[in-house]
Amino acid sequence: MNFYGKDFLRIADFSEAELRHMLEISHQFKKMKKEGKPHKIFPNKNIAILFEKTSTRTRCSFEVAGYDLGMGVTFLDPSGSQMGHKESIADTARVLGRLYDGIEYRGFDQAVVDDLAKYADVPVWNGLTDECHPTQALGDFMTIEEHFGELKGLTLAFVGDTRNNVANSLMMMSAKMGVNFIACGPNELRPSDDMINRSKPIAEKNGSTITITSDIAVLNNKADIIYTDVWLSLGEPQEKWGERIELLKQYQVNKKMMDSAKETTIFLHCLPSFHDLNTSIAKDVNKVFGIEEMEVTNEVFESEKSLVFEQAENRMHTIKAVMFLTLYERRNK
Ligand code: CP
Ligand code: NVA
Repeated sequence: MNFYGKDFLRIADFSEAELRHMLEISHQFKKMKKEGKPHKIFPNKNIAILFEKTSTRTRCSFEVAGYDLGMGVTFLDPSGSQMGHKESIADTARVLGRLYDGIEYRGFDQAVVDDLAKYADVPVWNGLTDECHPTQALGDFMTIEEHFGELKGLTLAFVGDTRNNVANSLMMMSAKMGVNFIACGPNELRPSDDMINRSKPIAEKNGSTITITSDIAVLNNKADIIYTDVWLSLGEPQEKWGERIELLKQYQVNKKMMDSAKETTIFLHCLPSFHDLNTSIAKDVNKVFGIEEMEVTNEVFESEKSLVFEQAENRMHTIKAVMFLTLYERRNK
């Protein structure tokens, strides 16, 4: 297995064994961090992290992981660089590829991060596009593995906007790791046929299933993990709130839904989450639509079954593993 120089653009690009190795390295880095063991492996390397959309977890995970590995980190967004408005992504990539040892990119079209990878001669890591969020899926599976001790045979149900970037990466990751995946949401927000057709044969090969349903009763006594995400993703027009609330309100993760699953079922969410009125967006939505909690109730979010902050922490350990593996040149092959 050799990751050196490779990009991390989508889960589908990696085999089960490679993903397993990434998870193992992630566990090792977490252990080292907890034990206070320094691991400044790359004191002479620098990375650039590019964000065309806002971020807290992904940005901070790349920054902290970079510093922990001994690297210099430069954060760029459209307001602080020429990127996107005065200089194309392709030109930016070619410049940054000369200066940096690795580049993270968060933006809109998957084609942009694919192009970046094509033009820059250094590893490019996808920090979220409209199509997928691969570092999220890796962190989530680390959290699931930590909690249950294994992955194979578990059932992960993604409830809500089942065609969004997070759902896409989780479907593919589930297929690769032999986890049963249920996409539970309205037909209007069903995963694309392309996504389903690519994931299903991989799942079958690994002994798991992909189920697409609009019926929440399918979760009854079945889901080991209930996962949801915001009803309107970054970059989607605010005018869509009304339509989304109408489509998704019956898919809100609440106590009744959690109780219908299993005694041992856990709740996951990539965050940020609208589970109360403590954000300006939630307040605005509340004024217009009268809704106080969106994709998950505060009760579930704050419950013992909710591992969302462990999950957020694991973003850093997994991102560190991805950077380490793609930047580390093994000389004794
Ligand atoms: N989950 C996640 O990607 O969060 P951020 O948007 O804050 O990076
Ligand atoms: N689907 C969400 C995920 C955020 C981490 C979005 O794209 O905004």
